Amino acid sequence: MKDGRAFVFVCVAAICTVAALISIRAQQAVARDQLQQQLLVEPPPIPVSLDEGRKLFDKLCAPCHKFGAIGNEVGPDLTTMTSRLKKKDVVDAILWPSKTISDQFETTIIQTKGGDLISGLAQRENAQAVFIVTAQAPDKPIRVLKSQIAERKKSAVSMMPDGLVDTLGVGPVSSLVAFLLGRPPR
Ligand code: HEC
Repeated sequence: MKDGRAFVFVCVAAICTVAALISIRAQQAVARDQLQQQLLVEPPPIPVSLDEGRKLFDKLCAPCHKFGAIGNEVGPDLTTMTSRLKKKDVVDAILWPSKTISDQFETTIIQTKGGDLISGLAQRENAQAVFIVTAQAPDKPIRVLKSQIAERKKSAVSMMPDGLVDTLGVGPVSSLVAFLLGRPPR
């Protein structure tokens, strides 16, 4: 009898957790759609600050992106992207990183014989090893010996973190976008 009650309790708790997670996901999706719409209003209703945009870039994006003279080249160099991408493409790439990924930047997932799972960009490789750049430490590629690889596959999920700007609000994100659409620092 006691076991039965405990079981019911655990089930109810599990169902509530799943429901809560689903509703958080749904709220995030709505919030991001709204953010996208607000960011695309022309001209921007709130004054943008290129200084603030640059600070945000330094903190959140520079570990992986070059823009003019600043940042690291882990993901695509953003210096000349405006010749290819419109404002909406840039906004979408920031809000939904996995929506479009060029082949060159597909994520590699490696399962090692020791049971480790490593996911990131295969930056380079030689006969013995492959070097994987991870989102956690983009400046320190992980060397994986080929003899230790159990499985290696590509994934359609970007290594660019999802939700990077979710908590910033429309003002700061507008500034970041304006900075990226403006003249790259020299
Ligand atoms: C951990 C590394 C990482 C971080 C941090 C990161 N990105 Fe990315 N980003 C990538 C990778 C890898 C790609 C290519 C795959 C893709 O399109 O998602 C990419 C793609 C992009 C693209 C599309 C570029 C193109 O040429 O199509 C834009 C725009 C972009 N990122 C902007 C940003 C901005 C703005 C930030 C900071 C808020 C940021 N990224 C943070 C790794 C990162």
